[in-house]
Amino acid sequence: MTKPDSASLPATLYGVRWEGGLDDGHLVLLDQTRLPKDVVYLQVRDIEVLRTAICDLAVRGAPAIGIAGAFGIVLHLVPLAKAAKATTASALDTAYAHAHERLVSSRPTAVNLRWALERMRDCFDRHSSHLTPLEMCARLLMEAKRIHREDLELCRRIAENGAPLMPQGGGVYTHCNTGALATGGVGTALGCLVEAHNRGRKIQVFSGETRPLLQGARLTALELQHAKVPVTLCCDSAAASLMARGKIQAVIVGADRICANGDTANKIGTYSLAVLAKHHGIPFYVAAPYSTFDLSLADGSLIHIEERHADEVRRPHGVQMSPIDVPVSNPAFDVTPAALITAIVTERGVIDHPTRERVAALMRDQASEPAV
Ligand code: MRU
Repeated sequence: MTKPDSASLPATLYGVRWEGGLDDGHLVLLDQTRLPKDVVYLQVRDIEVLRTAICDLAVRGAPAIGIAGAFGIVLHLVPLAKAAKATTASALDTAYAHAHERLVSSRPTAVNLRWALERMRDCFDRHSSHLTPLEMCARLLMEAKRIHREDLELCRRIAENGAPLMPQGGGVYTHCNTGALATGGVGTALGCLVEAHNRGRKIQVFSGETRPLLQGARLTALELQHAKVPVTLCCDSAAASLMARGKIQAVIVGADRICANGDTANKIGTYSLAVLAKHHGIPFYVAAPYSTFDLSLADGSLIHIEERHADEVRRPHGVQMSPIDVPVSNPAFDVTPAALITAIVTERGVIDHPTRERVAALMRDQASEPAV
């Protein structure tokens, strides 16, 4: 275990990594519940351990849990494939369905998890009748690695498209954590901030602490310091006053699910920021890859919002802050209506003032998916 400040973190931050080959391979997760105090890596070899890590937010952020979930399928199937007597991988079908169900139900709002698991399922269905169980696992591992590599490239392109939207000089407010810890690359909203800074834009980032689990304070502040981007931490409730005092020229956040009409689910508190930005005439940007779009949902009222345990609010980080039995409302996400969003930044381009037609037009453009 390392006791970090931002300088003692590894040069390249990652939340999820596959280590080893098919036989001995496993997932390595940087335990984000321990940051910024301790740098602890979890060695994950079992799907139930992975499920717990996802539920407890040891690995978190929409793209990162998708990547972890994809590798989780491989973790579950390899030992069964080794023991299988069958000649084709279709014998693993029941085990596959079990793994899928355990993972997909671990966090319901971020659609990237379902997206990655469906992509793995498609791969399984395409090959299970003609590959042996072990060959199938090798093919699935290849697919999971491809999802991981692809996300790195998606982040790079989002950062390129988002950086020019950042002010030449001034304050940019962000919420939750959307960086390397939350993705397979430099991040989405946070990637845009880093890229803008690297291109010489004199931005001052304000990171809202993000109650109740403090992803902004614990993770975003750490990541931005690590990337040498000027960052000031503030209480979530300071956002209105900062905007009123002219300190904020733009807001940029990530997304957990974007509906066909552009309505966007993201960390609880995002919606209030969008309302505040509108009131103060400040642009409000969402940055996300195509894997965060869920075109099967017409609008945000249909998004399943995860409700988390009451003790996250009553006893943050184990410290009792309220009567022990007071009823609590703890939705992990909220929905920002498309009408409050100035633009959605994707790897394929920028959707200005998103509408159903504009979302459909950009998402139809499959040709721009990165080949990795
Ligand atoms: O509950 P979390 O920490 O997983 O929530 C994360 C967010 O809301 C992020 O903004 C979102 O997943 C985008 S990450 C690129």
